[in-house]
Amino acid sequence: ADPTALRRDLEGVRVVVSAGGTREPLDPVRYLGNRSSGKQGYALARVAAQRGAEVTLVAAHTVALPAPAGAEVVSVSTAEQLRTAVHAAAERADVVVMAAAVADFRPASRAEHKIKKRDGEPDPTIVLARNPDVLAELVERRRGAQLVVGFAAETGDDRGDVLDHARAKLKRKGCDLLVVNAVGEGRAFEVEDNAGWLLSATGAERPIPLGSKAQLASAMWDSVADLLAGR
Ligand code: CTP
Ligand code: CA
Repeated sequence: ADPTALRRDLEGVRVVVSAGGTREPLDPVRYLGNRSSGKQGYALARVAAQRGAEVTLVAAHTVALPAPAGAEVVSVSTAEQLRTAVHAAAERADVVVMAAAVADFRPASRAEHKIKKRDGEPDPTIVLARNPDVLAELVERRRGAQLVVGFAAETGDDRGDVLDHARAKLKRKGCDLLVVNAVGEGRAFEVEDNAGWLLSATGAERPIPLGSKAQLASAMWDSVADLLAGR
């Protein structure tokens, strides 16, 4: 069967999806950003709308992408703006999916004027401050049967493989579902295909075969639909 085939199994389900990468301003013309394309989040929003969900897409910076048909799009730039928009939309949501690449840090201060280089003075240093963890806040604020889904891009290292890191992150974050992208070897960032695992707080672990971002989106919504049906 075509895994992306149309099913209306999310009819009446209210979902919030965040997508893209935040930008943290240094001065009026410069920012710290990341390489997120936003494609995975947009695919999640598009597939959810196709399956009948009522979708709010909180979109940070992305490559040029068509707005997903049927989704309400809220555009944001910084992590702080994303946080405000996600919490507002989450108030009436059944499912919140944090696919955005939220900056962990922002410049501790934002220069009012463009930072200039000055001969004879030491070069400036960027001091960073921690951004709030939106996913952790969603887990804390969650009421009733709301499902919270996190994303993680992981690589193996000398302290464990991708799955070890992902299981630890699921526990640490306290979300209901963690979508794990295995990165490295040219995977996930700025490419069309994703592979990884779906880890559920119930202990269920499903591999996601290498496939398109739409296929990963379908697999994730299948798991969400199962969790919703079990509540
Ligand atoms: N996330 C978030 N707010 C942040 C940082 C991350 O909501 N300030 C969310 C992401 O959208 C993602 C999940 O948390 O759904 C995991 O992000 P990740 O960067 O993998 O986790 P971190 O806890 O930031 O850990 P790390 O130190 O590995 O970056
Ligand atoms: Ca992070």
